[in-house]
Amino acid sequence: MFDLQNKIALVTGARRGMGKSHALILAQQGAKVAVTDISKEECEEVVKEIKQRGGDALAFRLDVSHVQEIDQVFGEVVQQWGRLDILVNNAGIYFPKPALELTEEEWQKMLAINLKGQFFCAQRAAQEMKKHGWGRIINIASVASGQVGVGIAGGAHYTASKGGIIGMTETLAIEWAPFGIHVNAIGPGAIDTPMVQAAQIPQAAMEAMLRQIPLGRVGKAEEVSAAVVFLASEEASYVTGATIYVDGGWLAA
Ligand SMILES: NC(=O)c1ccc[n+]([C@@H]2O[C@H](COP(=O)([O-])OP(=O)(O)OC[C@H]3O[C@@H](n4cnc5c(N)ncnc54)[C@H](O)[C@@H]3O)[C@@H](O)[C@H]2O)c1
Repeated sequence: MFDLQNKIALVTGARRGMGKSHALILAQQGAKVAVTDISKEECEEVVKEIKQRGGDALAFRLDVSHVQEIDQVFGEVVQQWGRLDILVNNAGIYFPKPALELTEEEWQKMLAINLKGQFFCAQRAAQEMKKHGWGRIINIASVASGQVGVGIAGGAHYTASKGGIIGMTETLAIEWAPFGIHVNAIGPGAIDTPMVQAAQIPQAAMEAMLRQIPLGRVGKAEEVSAAVVFLASEEASYVTGATIYVDGGWLAA
């Protein structure tokens, strides 16, 4: 089960953090992986690691907020490997700012990367996947997405983007089901990555957050990658339009 031999995957924001983990684990399952991020050099390092472990990968610079760059890079991947089967829409940013102080520029930046980028990567991927009648698109959302998720003080722009991803995922799942393309989202809880380290959450706030998480700890990137592998696989044949929360039970509490 969960064999990804002969599958072609593209991961955005894959130079570090969860994206890197997804790229390594997809390759370990047999997929050829396009490792993309804003720094090609750092993607090359991930490619090196994949190759050392016997996998196959290519590095690309891709800023997901530029639609033209998306078109170009996805085109190059298809030119190299003939197809695209799996997209992990992982690239994202987070910077806290009280809602009363948010500027239009900050709002636009967050939405351009976290939401617009995911949509146009999904659209470009689906154009390729439709040709072969099979595809898996995995959009990385967050528990910070409202409704069943949670709000997050200082994150109005972030939660708007992540909530948008869940609505978009459900809509794309409906539109693209006839083409054999499954679209799902993953809502990670607090995962130990450079993003969370950079947020410098005060100790008291961290302890308060951990008290709300039944498993009592932050998660590891690989624990989210496990859900990515499942959703990318043939075994997810009856799963589309879903959001899987990998959050240590946070939303259940
Ligand atoms: N760490 C957490 O607790 C957590 C929780 C929920 C959701 N997430 C989401 O998981 C995803 C991965 O985050 P992470 O925690 O690994 O953080 P991270 O900061 O380590 O990784 C994010 C990656 O996205 C890349 N990126 C930023 N702007 C980009 C752009 N314009 N184009 C392409 N790539 C760009 C960064 O270079 C970085 O490599 C993000 O979408 C994030 O919102 C993280």
